[in-house]
Amino acid sequence: CRVRHYKFNVVMNNTTRLCATKPIVTINGKFPGPTIYAREDDTVLIKVVNHVKYNMSIHWHGIRQLRTGWADGPAYITQCPIQPGQTYVYNFTLTGQRGTLWWHAHILWLRATVHGGIVILPKLGVPYPFPKPNKEVVVLLSEWWKSDVEAVINEALKSGLAPNVSDAHTINGHPGPVSSCSSQGGYNLQVDSGKTYMLRVINAALNEELFFKVAGHKLTVVEVDAVYTKPFKTDTILIAPGQTTNVLLTANRATGKYLVAASPFMDAPIAVDNVTAIATVHYSGTVASLTTTLTKTPPQNATPVATNFVDSLRSLNSKKFPAKVPLKIEHSLLFTVGLGINPCATCTNGSRVVASVNNVSFVMPSTALLQAHYFNISGVFTDDFPGNPPVQFNYTGTGPKNLATMKGTRLYRLAYNSTVQVVLQDTGIITPENHPVHLHGFNFFVVGRGLGNFNPKKDPKKFNLVDPVERNTVSVPSGGWTAFRFRADNPGVWFMHCHLEVHTTWGLKMAFVVDNGKGPNESVLPPPSDLPTC
Ligand code: C2O
Repeated sequence: CRVRHYKFNVVMNNTTRLCATKPIVTINGKFPGPTIYAREDDTVLIKVVNHVKYNMSIHWHGIRQLRTGWADGPAYITQCPIQPGQTYVYNFTLTGQRGTLWWHAHILWLRATVHGGIVILPKLGVPYPFPKPNKEVVVLLSEWWKSDVEAVINEALKSGLAPNVSDAHTINGHPGPVSSCSSQGGYNLQVDSGKTYMLRVINAALNEELFFKVAGHKLTVVEVDAVYTKPFKTDTILIAPGQTTNVLLTANRATGKYLVAASPFMDAPIAVDNVTAIATVHYSGTVASLTTTLTKTPPQNATPVATNFVDSLRSLNSKKFPAKVPLKIEHSLLFTVGLGINPCATCTNGSRVVASVNNVSFVMPSTALLQAHYFNISGVFTDDFPGNPPVQFNYTGTGPKNLATMKGTRLYRLAYNSTVQVVLQDTGIITPENHPVHLHGFNFFVVGRGLGNFNPKKDPKKFNLVDPVERNTVSVPSGGWTAFRFRADNPGVWFMHCHLEVHTTWGLKMAFVVDNGKGPNESVLPPPSDLPTC
């Protein structure tokens, strides 16, 4: 195993998209940011130097951070922010992980422009469990606002209303030829006839689940969230913010130029955003304009396409890569996730949109939770997060009279190595909406999902405990539920939140505190000496 060193300078950079230039926060001046390459079991050291006026912190999304929560990154959860002028070295080991993950700022809305890919190759000499592709590329999907992104969310928080949607989606940083203001600079993948390409697709968008499609070509899904899947062919993939999906694409069509498209999936009854991002796959040796085959992603409300895709995902569950699904459950939790409305005298309508888990809108502390836990600092959090909805929840499609949520910095405590089942139930109180929920520090097995109310008697009988997909971010279907299981084998404080940034901001977040075990390698390691202070 090697030690890999990276240097991330946080700097402003003037960037032009959609006929307008604005200063954005970047890593080393790049949008999207640099890709981190490593191999399974390597140690990675990333020195982050903050040269901008904003506080910064960076999360390595999907990296387990076994006992090294200090390097996980969410501001005020595992570390205090890196203040302007300060430096912090993230130091972690990629224990038993290989595949595509990504990194992003985990403070304010800075991840809009501060993000990039993480490619972890298998150990030297270890093959993929599928034929080796001829070439591999990172495909980052994202969003672009013409205005300053921090201004967008600050304005929304002031008014209490929803923030403006983005002005474009992007593929590797570019909207592609979607308007006269973006006719230049779309991403192009040059291919040779007969060769196979692995696209490492990452959804870095702030607020949109996306369909992704290459015209005329089938995609073979082989991995999600850095875990191998049973391969299957599909026209379209569905990918939620936070998720990654590796697909194989074989250049087996008539030579020419084919369009690639990323467009939103939103099965809430509100259609707000229709901008498709366009890229191209161009066969070498052919005139670019020779054969342009148009592509069309499914319509924004194509729930059957989305459901069909999600239902096709299975763990590889081979001898080498077994699915270790916990069978006996010690903590059986039911969490409602959804939006609500709290009074707000200064807001436009006298109220503000809020979001919650089990009716608790999470309040960010002013000291990092992991520090408070490790050093036994009292008064920062309580460990009384409700394991069930405080009022029995019944999804009927219409909201209750009282939409208000409670506030608190409440954590749920787990014993080391205990087994956990979480059922996430969308409330649909204001409107049914998808919630791609991300758990830090763990992968989990998605054992079931359904529409309407979760039925604790009937639904568990249908759970897949054999080869459920293993991942770190899962979408709760709109007006439905999803269930996952994991083993709490990573001591520390682990954030769980909706990866739609606006829902996180509104409070759809909570954290688990996992106690140390009694064994020699079962406790949180001491914090590094350069850990930022609040
Ligand atoms: Cu990718 Cu807590 O986030």
